Amino acid sequence: MTNPTIVLGIETSCDETAAAVLADGKEILSSVVSSQVDLHKAYGGVVPEMASRAHIEMLLPVVEEALKNTPKNTPPLTAVAATNGPGLIGALLVGVSAGKALSLALNIPFIAVNHLEAHLFATFLDEPDIELPLVVLLVSGGHTMLILMREFGKYEVLGQTLDDAAGEAFDKTARALGLGYPGGPEIDKLAASFEGEDNIKFPRPMLSSAMLSASSFLEGEAKEKKGGKRKDKSDKLNFSFSGLKTAVVNYIRKAEQNGTDISTPAVAAAFQNSVVEVLSKKTVLAVEQFGAKAVCLAGGVAANSQLREEFQQLGVPCYLASREMCTDNAAMVAAAGHWHLMRGDTSELNVSVYPSLKL
Ligand code: KG4
Ligand code: ZN
Repeated sequence: MTNPTIVLGIETSCDETAAAVLADGKEILSSVVSSQVDLHKAYGGVVPEMASRAHIEMLLPVVEEALKNTPKNTPPLTAVAATNGPGLIGALLVGVSAGKALSLALNIPFIAVNHLEAHLFATFLDEPDIELPLVVLLVSGGHTMLILMREFGKYEVLGQTLDDAAGEAFDKTARALGLGYPGGPEIDKLAASFEGEDNIKFPRPMLSSAMLSASSFLEGEAKEKKGGKRKDKSDKLNFSFSGLKTAVVNYIRKAEQNGTDISTPAVAAAFQNSVVEVLSKKTVLAVEQFGAKAVCLAGGVAANSQLREEFQQLGVPCYLASREMCTDNAAMVAAAGHWHLMRGDTSELNVSVYPSLKL
């Protein structure tokens, strides 16, 4: 019997310093995440320079702990994988430099991993046999995109946010409501606690026009299949969340001007209803248009309770990573790294970091 592959994953793209050890691309032997949330809380968001410094301090202890937490008799590392984009440049450099140094010292391959691809692999960790084509909704603090996967490793971006990411909207709205950082979990909790009548209605950005243009889009697809030229894909599968945040801010301001109290749980619930409805309806549109067999929900916002519930009722099989695997971690980086390693797709040690790396 051959030894399993043992991949060390390193993640430092934003405000989590993480390391994990993964066997054969599926068994998490250890996973350590050190969050800098407390450090950035006072500023209501991540301060890049502070993030880089904290990564420098935490990375080696976190890697050491991940290695120490593996079961006895774990074979030596086969490869090391680290996120090289997208993310904060200084933060990325810390993880990538450490990964390259380990690769050189241990004489094992280094694999540079795209953070967005790593988020997808978080789901494949639990469900390696997903049916294709697959529509993925990737929703995090920095990204909101609908992706079509006709085969593993090939990604077609169907739509994305034109302004704020969904997670960013959660964070900014939470700040407007005087809640803590990160805002997503806070709004999630508050919305779940709301039992009153749902009579605040915030806009559903870019949804009604999307539903209206769905039929013309399908006509375009049919035309293209017949050899004709299809019109532009339009904004149907794109998103926009900055106006929704402004609608919440205006609602709060108006109440202040009128001297009326607002119910924070009611506003949180109304905001979340809007985000969840837009995300799920657009995902359904994508599934219908591209004949997807399944849906996968990935990224930090995929930890949202209402979104998870809604996605389980979409009418197509839905794959969800566990909540811990939705937010930034290194097991997902190791999983993506393993997949590339199996294809001989390893990186040169002069590979750079790319803050705006695309999928
Ligand atoms: O994927 P992630 O950990 O980091 C990025 O790559 O951006 O996502 C972080 C984002 C934050 O905006 C956070 O507020 C949001 O995910 N988030 C949530 C929940 N948990 C984390 N949003 C809504 N509901 C949650 N339960
Ligand atoms: Zn992320």
